[in-house]
Amino acid sequence: MTQAAIEADKLRVEKGKRIILADLGFTVEKGSLTGLIGPSGSGKTTLMRTIVGVQKYNGDLNVLGESAGHKLLRSKIGYVTQSPAVYPDLTVEQNLRYFGVLVGANANKVDRVIGQVKLQPQKRQLVESLSGGQKARVSLAVALLGDPELLVLDEPTVGLDPVLRNELWDMFHDLAKEGKTLLVSSHVMDEAERCGNLLLLRDGKLLWHDTQAKLLTATKKQSVGDAFITMIHAAERADQIKHAEVRQ
Ligand SMILES: Nc1ncnc2c1ncn2[C@@H]1O[C@H](COP(=O)(O)OP(=O)(O)OP(=O)(O)O)[C@@H](O)[C@H]1O
Ligand SMILES: [Mg+2]
Repeated sequence: MTQAAIEADKLRVEKGKRIILADLGFTVEKGSLTGLIGPSGSGKTTLMRTIVGVQKYNGDLNVLGESAGHKLLRSKIGYVTQSPAVYPDLTVEQNLRYFGVLVGANANKVDRVIGQVKLQPQKRQLVESLSGGQKARVSLAVALLGDPELLVLDEPTVGLDPVLRNELWDMFHDLAKEGKTLLVSSHVMDEAERCGNLLLLRDGKLLWHDTQAKLLTATKKQSVGDAFITMIHAAERADQIKHAEVRQ
């Protein structure tokens, strides 16, 4: 039996009077690579912040067997934020040693992680002088330092060229093969094609939470982009019917 790494039921997040995430229910299996896909403003970062435990929520959100935000989860989750959180004026190795101290990773672990993200040749280079893809890999390396079970990566490939994006996605698949669970957000549809499992988010609502294969079968489409549009139209039709019923 596969186990759930994340389980949400009636998960709701409100900010001010606005509903940002509306009663989400989904499961992310352990060892899977799941794409959290949705347009800008759909709630991807908010959902990730909730999963890593820095956003208040209502409903149930279980992460690695604990309620989201539980202190036991701190060392089990690696979170890469949307804006880079590494020091540009330190080298790759200096950054990792610094963050390593915070999570109790020794010099060996730092070396291993540098190897894992293939930054050995750049380890003495200042982060500010790295290419976009290399910078993204430094952030990933920091998240890997504590050997987390769950990696939550917020738009890690944004602004990168297709070759670098490819390299990073290969790395994400390798990490999933090693048994880690990855939740990776993107607003780019062709990135969704790389994910076996999909959470499609729009206006804080989940339009899909299952495998890519089932999505394509259910919508009779060849690409996730076309399938997403079909799901959006279906949701809009359902909304119109609901509104018409309310007016009657
Ligand atoms: N403090 C806040 N008060 C009110 N609304 C907020 C607040 N923070 C975020 N929002 C709104 O919540 C919605 C979801 O934001 P979020 O950052 O989660 O989206 P996103 O999918 O990550 O977008 P992007 O792709 O641009 O990063 C947006 O409409 C945003 O304006
Ligand atoms: Mg975001």
